[in-house]
Amino acid sequence: MPDIESLLKETRVFKPGKAFAKQANWSKKNVRELRKLGAKDPEKFWARMAKKNVTWFKPWKKTLDWKPPFAKWFVGAKTNVSYNCLDRHLEGKNAWRSNKAAIIWEGEPGDQRVLTYSQLHREVCKFANVLKGLGVTKGDRVALYMPMVPELAIAMLACTRIGAPHSIVFGGFSSESLRDRINDAGAKLVVTADGGYRRGEPLPLKPAVDEAITGCKSVENVVVVRRCENDVKWKKGRDHWWHDLMAEASADCPAAKLDSEHPLFILYTSGTTGKPKGILHTTGGYLTHVTTTAKAVFDLKDEDVYWCTADIGWITGHSYVVYGILANGATTLMYEGGPTTPGPDRFWDIIERHRVSIFYTAPTAIRTFIRLGDEHPQGHDLSSLRLLGSVGEPINPEAWIWYHEVIGGKRCPIVDTWWQTETGGIMITPLPGAVDTKPGSATLPFPGIAAEVVDEKAKKVKAPDGGFLALTKPWPGMLRGIWGDPKRYEETYWSKFGKFYFAGDGAHRDKDGNFWIMGRIDDVMNVSGHRIGTMEVESALVSHKDVAEAAVVGRPDEITGTAVVAFVSPRAGVEAGDPLVKELREHVAGEIGAFAKPAEIRFTDALPKTRSGKIMRRLLRDIASGNETVGDTTTLEDLSVLAKLRDEG
Ligand code: WTA
Repeated sequence: MPDIESLLKETRVFKPGKAFAKQANWSKKNVRELRKLGAKDPEKFWARMAKKNVTWFKPWKKTLDWKPPFAKWFVGAKTNVSYNCLDRHLEGKNAWRSNKAAIIWEGEPGDQRVLTYSQLHREVCKFANVLKGLGVTKGDRVALYMPMVPELAIAMLACTRIGAPHSIVFGGFSSESLRDRINDAGAKLVVTADGGYRRGEPLPLKPAVDEAITGCKSVENVVVVRRCENDVKWKKGRDHWWHDLMAEASADCPAAKLDSEHPLFILYTSGTTGKPKGILHTTGGYLTHVTTTAKAVFDLKDEDVYWCTADIGWITGHSYVVYGILANGATTLMYEGGPTTPGPDRFWDIIERHRVSIFYTAPTAIRTFIRLGDEHPQGHDLSSLRLLGSVGEPINPEAWIWYHEVIGGKRCPIVDTWWQTETGGIMITPLPGAVDTKPGSATLPFPGIAAEVVDEKAKKVKAPDGGFLALTKPWPGMLRGIWGDPKRYEETYWSKFGKFYFAGDGAHRDKDGNFWIMGRIDDVMNVSGHRIGTMEVESALVSHKDVAEAAVVGRPDEITGTAVVAFVSPRAGVEAGDPLVKELREHVAGEIGAFAKPAEIRFTDALPKTRSGKIMRRLLRDIASGNETVGDTTTLEDLSVLAKLRDEG
């Protein structure tokens, strides 16, 4: 396991500040009790959280039904996510929230919109009726391929209101990727926009939808938000403008009383092999998990302006831009565009102008800002901030310290939150008023969550040895399966350890029990917080006419966390030079999305393979990062390949 050594040298400890601890939603004493309960009786713990933090139409008969690896939480209960995010803030003692900002939105060009809870409720009800009018009923899947505009949140909440699971496809994905995802989910309707602003330009989205759905039998209608006013092609009968439909829609749409296990959404994520996996999340357990963690980990208060910079197309955006935050009646800020448009201080400018108090971002962004220079944050008043968060990859201690000092003014606790698309919500994390933090460590499992570092045989390893991160008990936000592929679900997550969930990350614990996450142990790369399977990039490369074979690995990169390095064997007679490098990079951008473009492409006549024909990515990783080859090379088919690759590099 790499990095154990360097991480172990980190000994700085930061205690929660007195003032912060005093006002925290979860005090040290509370946390001590909740941890005890969570360890002794996790079901009881989560049942208590479910009662406290979620409104149910009908109570459950059984907290957990666990037939490994299939879980059902709050069996027999009925609730609705959209009701919990909206209606309950307009009623009874919470009715004062009606005119509180639910969403503060800022477009990249600087345009702004604020939606209060009652306005958002109205828009969601109307769009739910639009969906019904287009024939979408409970259980039908709806694909959302949208920029970061309020209509995306409205569409999500409208889907949940009527029980139509959504499948959000990040707007950076190409038409091919979109098509695969629409087909796999069998989506009946697609919601998109003419485009969205990114780095100063309108980025068209509708053409990718047009292209994608030529191959999709299931799609009947496309709803298009007008955002950039760029030209779009139109198919009469199939395509509808959002604003036309909304003008006619009734604002009366009661939330459906859905079963706790009703499918809430599907979100695709890369695997090591083959096509992306449609991770399935359901209603009651997920809602309990994200609402509880948002309140405890971000210390959400009614006065806060909370900003998570993730795109809603990723799980972080689902759980902690929209659902977990609105379910708490908090104000969520949504920003459409790039972090450095029009200038390198855009984020700090947003924080200053909107008086953001809680800021949740990714290490890759933090590293970018470090490189851009301290003068940009220092040129703004960031005194409104009171809590900082990090997610998506391990944060290196130096970046943590910079975040703490330059952004947090040394007064804001940092919550380094470990979780995954599959876990639905935060799993390993500091609790800001109660847990001592160490730069680079996600600290301890959330109460009610059981995690261990284990060896190949699922045996707990002794600190400070490294091993595999495993989750040893079911939790409410856990994925319920892979859409349409229960076998793959069992194989991917449960075949390694049997009764434990295999997270695919390496980790070790220190003497205080803190977890230090060491990154993916398989071949999935984490580029700027996006998980990309090496297989997907390889397939994209090989689909180019000049490429015979390709192997892709990640190399550590200061800014993006991991940079994509591709080893490519061109077809015979092909000239392998800079023009081809350029072409291949564009090709990958077209097939998958610009974020997957290889940072480096190396041409080679042959790739190192095992005798069974498996490409030895481990060796390529060493070459790509300039390390000595370590470990076993005896299974290598042709050792001269390796020597040659080094010479060429
Ligand atoms: C990595 C994002 C270290 C990890 C919510 C995990 C992290 C993968 C952290 C999931 C963290 C996420 N420290 N590594 N705080 N948070 N990761 O599905 O490798 O996009 O398995 O979910 O990101 O990525 P995903």
